[in-house]
Amino acid sequence: MKVKEITPGARVEGVYRLSYKDLKQKKTNVDENYLALGLADDTGEVEAKAWENVEELNSSFQKGDVVKIEGRATSWKGNVQVVVEVMSHASPEEIKALMPRSPRNLETMEKEWLSLVEQVENEYLKTLLMKVWNDPELREAYCSAPGGIKIHHPYVGGLLEHSLAIAKGAYLLWCKVYPDLNKDLLIAGGLLHDIGKVEEIFWKESQPEYTDQGRLMGHVMLGGQILARLIGEIEGFPPELSLKIQHIVASHHGEPEVGAAQRPMFKEAVLIHFLDEMDSKLSGFDVFIQKDNTEGNWTAYHRWFERYIYKG
Ligand SMILES: [Fe+2]
Ligand SMILES: [Fe+2]
Repeated sequence: MKVKEITPGARVEGVYRLSYKDLKQKKTNVDENYLALGLADDTGEVEAKAWENVEELNSSFQKGDVVKIEGRATSWKGNVQVVVEVMSHASPEEIKALMPRSPRNLETMEKEWLSLVEQVENEYLKTLLMKVWNDPELREAYCSAPGGIKIHHPYVGGLLEHSLAIAKGAYLLWCKVYPDLNKDLLIAGGLLHDIGKVEEIFWKESQPEYTDQGRLMGHVMLGGQILARLIGEIEGFPPELSLKIQHIVASHHGEPEVGAAQRPMFKEAVLIHFLDEMDSKLSGFDVFIQKDNTEGNWTAYHRWFERYIYKG
């Protein structure tokens, strides 16, 4: 049972991530404790309480664990609350099944990736792209990475979905509006701009989490390092082309305040930056609206985007 389907009175059986776990004193009897828990999945989060076996549960489970729950849903102060009867650790298969996944089909996305690469005429950029695709470890990481931790595409396949959207958008704009731009740089830039995320983020159980190098370096810099390594393995890769593709990675966030190493300094880099911002925002709106429980036409305030989102 998904979190969004839990309504007061329902039997609750399902696998959820413990978004928080607090040991609290009972108000009626200060000698006794209870556990206040957050149960989360890709549809949202619900509050839960465990009144029995509290000390044992408290020591066997940690925040972030994926747990199997049996219990019942009640209503408390107008909110749904789950009373936990049984809580156990989920199996590796159940943990995998809980991982949020891209709404887009993986095979379709893989085909799209290859057909975009086919449009690339420059042999060096094509070789660079195929080096990512033909390295089993790198490709697996690229296809399973999320686009971000929370704000946009926070699910398996998110990086692939996001990169494709930008490369396809850039290709279409080249076809229809800006034929003077370098198509090959646009496609390669779109597909590779966030490649650093394969080292910035990892899946901790069913939850995307920053790696140490991700926190210390960030994906813009990590992406530059990955590209430098791959380009170094391609004999005769033209130095100026190397600089240009690296600049697209370095500048795709647009402004230094939001993580860009440099502002975009040629037209292809400007276009990739704006498409990156557009696609992250569009996905960010979807992600926030999907998890928002606020009644009416407006979501709660989105702190990152600094606005309410209209969902009417
Ligand atoms: Fe980025
Ligand atoms: Fe991006």
